[in-house]
Amino acid sequence: MKKWYFLAILAVATIATLGAFSNPSANDKKQGGGYTNLKILPKDISDEALHSIMREFSISLGVRCGFCHARYTDTTKRGLDFASDAKDEKNIARKMYQMTAYLNANYFNWNKSTRPDTIHYVVCYTCHRGTHEPDAKVFLARIDSIAAAAQKNRGK
Ligand code: HEC
Ligand code: HEC
Repeated sequence: MKKWYFLAILAVATIATLGAFSNPSANDKKQGGGYTNLKILPKDISDEALHSIMREFSISLGVRCGFCHARYTDTTKRGLDFASDAKDEKNIARKMYQMTAYLNANYFNWNKSTRPDTIHYVVCYTCHRGTHEPDAKVFLARIDSIAAAAQKNRGK
């Protein structure tokens, strides 16, 4: 009995795998290059790399995808039109990404690396800390209570 279960699972898994390989669009997506409006990220970026960057953006700013990505204007389509540039937040994010890369390349390239794009001392989270408005006024307003707490801890 157990053997039959195993064979059935194997058969389903094989069909699913063959399906993925014979479906060119699914395959192209895995290898990247399926994205149509990348202006700063490499055009042939893999699905996995793109999604890990998008997750980093979202978590660093404490937002969801729709904070930067507009909905389809075509009402027959549901969800977000990731390639659209309709939201200012997306363009600001591009500038922020370039600023971050510039800071790493010019201020943290201690070893004069020829691949400064791989240096990540400064990341979105360095400034954002989970908010889309990392306004210094908010922190400066709290500076007295932060200093008082630090003073108290030192006393221990
Ligand atoms: C802080 C802003 C921001 C957030 C949040 C964000 N993205 Fe993006 N996303 C961008 C930017 C900027 C680009 C374009 C990068 C470029 O020009 O190279 C982009 C591009 C993309 C693309 C490629 C579209 C194409 O065909 O050109 C996809 C797919 C995508 N994002 C998915 C997501 C998903 C899924 C999430 C949520 C988990 C997400 N993004 C969250 C800013 C954001
Ligand atoms: C050196 C500090 C710093 C770094 C690094 C940084 N940001 Fe920002 N970001 C800011 C500040 C400051 C603001 C303006 C906040 C305000 O206006 O309240 C801002 C604003 C934004 C906004 C507009 C938010 C809004 O509410 O309209 C987006 C989008 C954004 N950053 C995305 C990013 C992304 C994505 C990264 C990483 C690639 C990043 N930032 C890295 C400091 C930084």
